[in-house]
Amino acid sequence: LKHFLTTEGLSRELLTEILDTADSFISTQERDVKKVPLLRGKTVVNLFFENSTRTRSTFELAAKRLSADILNLDIAKSATAKGETLMDTLWNLEAMYSDMFVVRHADSGAAHFIAEHVTPNVAIINAGDGRHAHPTQAMLDMLTIRRHQGSIEGKIVAIVGDILHSRVARSQIHALRTLGAAEVRVIGPGTLLPRDIEALGCKAYYRMEDGLKDCDVIIMLRLQKERMQNALLPSEGEFFKLYGLTEEKLTYAKPDAIVMHPGPINRGVEIESNVADGPQSVILNQVSYGIAVRMAVMAMAMSGQQQERNELAEQNI
Ligand code: CP
Repeated sequence: LKHFLTTEGLSRELLTEILDTADSFISTQERDVKKVPLLRGKTVVNLFFENSTRTRSTFELAAKRLSADILNLDIAKSATAKGETLMDTLWNLEAMYSDMFVVRHADSGAAHFIAEHVTPNVAIINAGDGRHAHPTQAMLDMLTIRRHQGSIEGKIVAIVGDILHSRVARSQIHALRTLGAAEVRVIGPGTLLPRDIEALGCKAYYRMEDGLKDCDVIIMLRLQKERMQNALLPSEGEFFKLYGLTEEKLTYAKPDAIVMHPGPINRGVEIESNVADGPQSVILNQVSYGIAVRMAVMAMAMSGQQQERNELAEQNI
């Protein structure tokens, strides 16, 4: 691993190594993650061009647990407001001896672009790009399933709601299929399901009663209005009636099914509070596992960068 941009195309071995490494960072009491010196002397820069609570905070905590120095660039107060281009901003940050950029951007492909064209000497971690990918979210979701359902292999997983605009869903689907989920279902109105959903290996359902039957894992998604054109925006009341997860709809799934949500939650729109805060919900566990998973990805990417530098240095001798 040199950068971590997507879950698409990554091998089962590599995804499993990320999960195993993350597991090794979680202390036996489950209330904390270990502090380790793996990134001592390294500088990580958080570059969030879009808002975030969970991802930005857990990347910062993960960097600190790896003993790195972390810089959170306040984009709103940065020189981008004076007309500086993204590339100039990145080159200047690279000149400050940065080793890793954690990037969230509204444009799909932004992290790939940066990795390929802007800063070849810095590891790039994608913290969410447009509607394309959110790979560390998908990996913390895989860890949550593995820890709460024993394995991913053989499980029936339903992803419910606005799949069309969801970078989380796309990254989850690739990871779930690679890690051997028995079925990946998507449930939602036709206007919020991607046209290529079957090519991604998913089965589409339009009714909760059908789609949730025999499920081990239910992943709820919010309506991502910031990426919708007005014409596609369903009424929240109608959406809740048909697709909002209630205690009643939860009974369609297996009795021990777990309920997940990447956050932020819109209570009363895609999920009712009794379910979000109920005994089958692992939503806050997902947040906690985000620290260990992000530690694993950062440590593996930094090790990959170092290995490449060593190989290049050997070739020059
Ligand atoms: N799940 C997620 O990406 O949340 P934030 O937008 O708060 O980072």
